[in-house]
Amino acid sequence: MNVAFITGGSSGIGRACVEKFLSADTAVGFIDANKVLGEELVSAYTDASLYFYHGDVCLVSDVEAAIIGTYNRFGKINVVFANAGIYEENNVHNITESSWDRVIDTNLKAVVFTINKAIRYLDGQHGGAIVINASDQCFVAKTNSLAYGASKAGLGQITKSIAVDLAKQNVRVNAICPGAIKTNLNIESKRRMAEEQYSGDISRVWAEEETKYPLGRIGSAVEVAELVFFLASERSSFITGSLVTIDGGYTAI
Ligand code: NAI
Repeated sequence: MNVAFITGGSSGIGRACVEKFLSADTAVGFIDANKVLGEELVSAYTDASLYFYHGDVCLVSDVEAAIIGTYNRFGKINVVFANAGIYEENNVHNITESSWDRVIDTNLKAVVFTINKAIRYLDGQHGGAIVINASDQCFVAKTNSLAYGASKAGLGQITKSIAVDLAKQNVRVNAICPGAIKTNLNIESKRRMAEEQYSGDISRVWAEEETKYPLGRIGSAVEVAELVFFLASERSSFITGSLVTIDGGYTAI
């Protein structure tokens, strides 16, 4: 049986991946700061192939404990999905030191130390794979996204760097670069825009967003989970160091 370790598995893309991996006979360990949603997810599965550690990815000790907990429960780890992330609105005029630190710590530093702590447990013999959740902001800038954009562009470089470092161990490392996906993270920022621009009518913000996408719509967490699953599987055995867009064509124009 394959075993995946996922950060930020309680909601959104991470949760869709937990469900995708479980449906494909892969045991899953995940860490998340959201205890309520994490426990709710675990309670939906009764077959003991799901392990939840309530913790903060910004604390290296929490991440290490979650990885060790996963390893002890299932006996190995061969997939890591470094997914947890936050968005905070800021630009060069209003950026604060605390906002910069929160975003960079969560989105960039925590990914590095998740992988750093997971390496010794990764089983290259049986198809070790790491997937990093970056963003279309690896390639393009967006307004009010200074720290977030910096963190995600940094993940693009880190993906290539770690892919080169781990190739000899037969561990592949790739990043996914999603465009707008309907999750709590995105809904929160759209809700703020709706308050400011459309008297709280969030449907108008989504409609406007959709016009920016050649496919004419926003993506779903389930669609992203399919890509993560592919990159984590042996079917992508010659892909490493790649930044794979999943954005309905947003960065193609
Ligand atoms: P989400 O908010 O639904 O899920 C994020 C999960 O990470 C939550 O369960 C949250 O509790 C957890 N988390 C956040 N900070 C944490 C911390 N310090 N310690 C432990 N857990 C923590 O959002 P979504 O969209 O599923 O985000 C997942 C990843 O996808 C993020 O890295 C985000 O930047 C990335 N992404 C999302 C896009 C979108 O449009 N939703 C687009 C491109 C990338």
